[in-house]
Amino acid sequence: MADVKIAPSILSADFAALAQAIDAVGPEADILHVDVMDGHFVPNLTIGPPVVKSLRGHTGLYLDCHLMMTNPGDYLEAFQKAGANGCSVHVEIGSTGALVDQMRDLGLDVGLAVNPDTPYEAYARWLDRIDLLLLMTVFPGFGGQKFMADVMPKVAHTRAVVDERGLNVAIQVDGGIDVHTAPVAAAAGASVFVAGNAIFGDAGGDPRAAAARIRAAASEAAA
Ligand code: DX5
Ligand code: ZN
Repeated sequence: MADVKIAPSILSADFAALAQAIDAVGPEADILHVDVMDGHFVPNLTIGPPVVKSLRGHTGLYLDCHLMMTNPGDYLEAFQKAGANGCSVHVEIGSTGALVDQMRDLGLDVGLAVNPDTPYEAYARWLDRIDLLLLMTVFPGFGGQKFMADVMPKVAHTRAVVDERGLNVAIQVDGGIDVHTAPVAAAAGASVFVAGNAIFGDAGGDPRAAAARIRAAASEAAA
């Protein structure tokens, strides 16, 4: 079983105080998850490359940009220049092969994101060309939604295939992850846990402790 990694999502942080939020969670964060929404692929708007650039100037943490966008290809270079380490594009928008090549050519780690109702067959053929598979456990667009346990068979099936084929793909879950749901996803085979609300929203003012609790809960179930 892969090591548990915690990826706080800044979507639930105070956007006027991102530096403080990152400092508060930094020691327990393996990855910083940056949710980019275009008001098109999802009915919400968040942030773009200028904010990633400012984050890069503030932290050495790995910056993973989850691009909930209809046209991510138009912006991949801007995210790379801004300091992103990796980007994930959604498989539902198509052009996956070209986008994977583009990310690789830019030197970005390559992620593919998958909505809860998109089946395994839609992304199976890309597993040997990506570094990260982001399996959504809510429909993307908003933080603070309820974890969808019915995605777990897809997580388990993907884990079995990845292990059987010896592929180097991190399996990330995103949406409704907290101390109760992280163990469920870990038991199914997830290795990276994105959490927004449970770290920056319900954290009782201590994002680092909240992230540590999620790590402990996931690690126990993954062992
Ligand atoms: C949802 C985003 C998630 C979101 C998760 O569209 O992709 O990354 O921030 O937030 P929580 O953990 O609050 O469900
Ligand atoms: Zn996300």
